[in-house]
Amino acid sequence: MSVILVGGTPGTGKTKVAKILGSKLTVEVISLGQLADDSGCITAEDKARNTGIINEDCLVDALFELTADKSKRLVIEGHYIDLVPSSSIQWVFVLRTHPETLKKRLSERDYSEDKVTENVEAEVIGVCQLDALDAFGEAKVFEIDTTELSAPQSVEKIQALMKSGSSPTRIDWMSQLEEQGRIDEFLTD
Ligand SMILES: Nc1ncnc2c1ncn2[C@@H]1O[C@H](COP(=O)(O)OP(=O)(O)O)[C@@H](O)[C@H]1O
Ligand SMILES: [Mg+2]
Repeated sequence: MSVILVGGTPGTGKTKVAKILGSKLTVEVISLGQLADDSGCITAEDKARNTGIINEDCLVDALFELTADKSKRLVIEGHYIDLVPSSSIQWVFVLRTHPETLKKRLSERDYSEDKVTENVEAEVIGVCQLDALDAFGEAKVFEIDTTELSAPQSVEKIQALMKSGSSPTRIDWMSQLEEQGRIDEFLTD
């Protein structure tokens, strides 16, 4: 089995990038949010945040079933990639976007101010990166800085990495922003 995961904070371009990558590789693309919905794993509603709450046990079961066919190749994108069975994973790409650019992108969506702040903070800290490293280990997790790239350019970068065999490099917005004395612009307290 060879699953290619595309993860990242909301607004980093997962859905768009995964779609293009899937069509270039002629591989089916699964969106975790869609899978959760189709599998009846969205069990409650978080009214304050205006989103559904995913039953993680239910989604883990759905993912086990989905990845059980060892001959199949899949691109899986979404916000809960660490729930995908580790044994099925070949590549993990975590999309990263500079917090300033991400803030602009998310503000253009119908996101509340709180939701923008929450997601920008998660990107500064690198929550998705840390979760992915925890779940899949250093060697499989590659980070793509999409700040200055279009979605097709991000896909080209992913495909180049898949061919090159080079080691992953890490992105650390927190240290960069601290060095520039800009951390307070992005973290509340
Ligand atoms: N380099 C890039 N890669 C992907 N999306 C980008 C890029 N630059 C800007 N975008 C824009 O960012 C927005 C978020 O993309 P989307 O795929 O919905 O993200 P996600 O699924 O991670 O929330 C889209 O409007 C997309 O056009
Ligand atoms: Mg998306």
